[in-house]
Amino acid sequence: MPTECLTSASEILSHLDDADPRRFWTAAQFSAPEDVVRLSINGIEALQREGPEIKEAVHHALSKGHGFGVISLKTASEYTDEKLAAFSHRLAAMVGDLMTQTEDGQTFFEVTKSESKHDGERRLSMSAGDTSLHTDCSYGDNRPGAISLFCLHPAKRGGSSILVSAYTALRQYVETYPEDLAPLAAHYPYYRSHVQYAGQPTFGIYPFVEIEDAALSVRYKMPYMIRGYREAGLDIPDPLERFLHRFEAIVSSPDNRVDMRLARGDFLVASNSWILHNRTPYQDAPDGPKRLLIRHWIDGPACPLQA
Ligand SMILES: [Fe+2]
Repeated sequence: MPTECLTSASEILSHLDDADPRRFWTAAQFSAPEDVVRLSINGIEALQREGPEIKEAVHHALSKGHGFGVISLKTASEYTDEKLAAFSHRLAAMVGDLMTQTEDGQTFFEVTKSESKHDGERRLSMSAGDTSLHTDCSYGDNRPGAISLFCLHPAKRGGSSILVSAYTALRQYVETYPEDLAPLAAHYPYYRSHVQYAGQPTFGIYPFVEIEDAALSVRYKMPYMIRGYREAGLDIPDPLERFLHRFEAIVSSPDNRVDMRLARGDFLVASNSWILHNRTPYQDAPDGPKRLLIRHWIDGPACPLQA
């Protein structure tokens, strides 16, 4: 396991000191729903006309704002699921370049509860449970700069989206454990849950924090970072395991998270570079449509991995 780091803890500290203050948000800044950056689109047909403005607003939110925003389609109830799904694909493509999410080249993924399993396990994204706070594709080279989730059907109960600023968490960690900063600059083996591409290893080794273009970027999913050691046939060093549990406690604090429930027609877009996401457990109605979100992985100039 590599312990040498291209990025040192002192470099990380220096970037935290110099970072845009808007990146260090906490739950208190979003105590009212209107505190979340929201744009509205009055109808599917308005997308073409308002596209450039939407793209600019999303880019601003990701690179110069709080790292996320919501675009609401006001007239969502007037459209069929098929029309809304097509709208979500156009909207995501307007924001940036869509990345492939499946071996057959599909550029979207339907996040819903499913009984299908892979290697005896159900994908967390296809369960009704908590997914644990994470960035997408932490285990690989195909990390998108941003993710989006478009709500077709909310759950009957639960299923809120949770976001946490990695900048806030890093700063709190540094202030709480100033004597134990080396794990910030370490590499970890990230378990590749449900490898979609044949022949790929079950873990990928990456630094927890990277610095590119003068910005910090984090790869995170605590349970899979611990599992990665098992996949690699190694024992996780005590200092690194202690760090992961401490960092998880910080990101899991209710004081650090914004919690929002997407409605039909809501499009949540968030940086995958420094915003961690999760969802609360949920229940579907026994007789209604199942919770269904359409996920896109977005890259390109409007959604830089490194802002
Ligand atoms: Fe995710």
